[in-house]
Amino acid sequence: MILALETSCDDTCAAVVTRDGEIRANVISSQGVHDRYGGVVPEVASRHHLELVGAVVEDALAQADVALPELDAVAVTQGPGLVGALLVGVATAKALAAAHRLPLIPVDHLHGHVAASFLAPAPFEPPFLILIASGGHTLLAHVRDHGQDWEVLGSTHDDAAGEAFDKGARMLGLGYPGGPALQRLAADGDPEAFDFPTARQVAGLDFSFSGLKTALLYKLRELEGIDPTLPTHRRADLAASYQRAIVETLARRVERALEQTGIDRLALGGGVAANGPLRERMRSLVADVDIPPIELCTDNAAMIASAARFLPALPFPDYLSLDAYATGERGL
Ligand code: KG4
Ligand code: ZN
Repeated sequence: MILALETSCDDTCAAVVTRDGEIRANVISSQGVHDRYGGVVPEVASRHHLELVGAVVEDALAQADVALPELDAVAVTQGPGLVGALLVGVATAKALAAAHRLPLIPVDHLHGHVAASFLAPAPFEPPFLILIASGGHTLLAHVRDHGQDWEVLGSTHDDAAGEAFDKGARMLGLGYPGGPALQRLAADGDPEAFDFPTARQVAGLDFSFSGLKTALLYKLRELEGIDPTLPTHRRADLAASYQRAIVETLARRVERALEQTGIDRLALGGGVAANGPLRERMRSLVADVDIPPIELCTDNAAMIASAARFLPALPFPDYLSLDAYATGERGL
């Protein structure tokens, strides 16, 4: 069994997963404190990780009914992410592993999102394409095997897809995180009411959401200039059209990637995978779509343990000087 820690952003996570990918415990402590700032505050996140990590690890071990010395290894997210937040996980994992002379397995956070699809009870086997869309990342990758052989085909030039949802929601007067609220408002709107841009100017398989965000801002100003108390059905139309533009931006790249690679299987990951219209649109592109349960799509430690199963372990004491990295080797 592998104990994994994940502290790359604002969720303090620990999980215990078997070598076969069966989840014995998956504990996530979300730091609600960031909601009032409308985003994650790195320093606040690190401090909360410090306060929470001990209890979260204990919880995971208790739920899995396993003691530290019985583990095969400890895994941890090494990067990319907020460096102060990552360091809490890395230092904790090193201490736990070293205390029992266990090996340590450093894991790339994005490999973790990929490996969420490898978990039991219905592992999705490579090769496949994966779209990872969250508040922190938006990327399209070709997954060739369970280990490090996955290639980024496209990523975002500016905002992440989740960020685009959150910023659009804020402009429309909705709370944070904005994705779910925007989806709810959009349900009553007409997605064809406004023609928002879908990043046609970005080449290849990359994404861009900044033009879309600006287009919403201008449209809002224009409409509020005509009627400052924008009626709810107009706001719903804006939300629906904006959501459609995000979904289309993602869908067009995915469609092109499927064509270019000849692969006909797609996995989704990241919090934006919760979005109903996005799921529907992806299923219209390809029949075989894997969407793990949402608690495995958002940041969690079970996916980190899952990736660790396919990576080399560092024996004690080789990992004592291990450091976190803010930006990954793949430039993300
Ligand atoms: O993976 P995640 O929980 O956290 C990180 O960003 O790491 O993703 C959160 C993002 C937020 O931007 C949130 O607005 C978005 O996922 N999100 C959604 C939905 N649920 C969450 N976006 C669109 N529709 C949703 N239903
Ligand atoms: Zn993530």
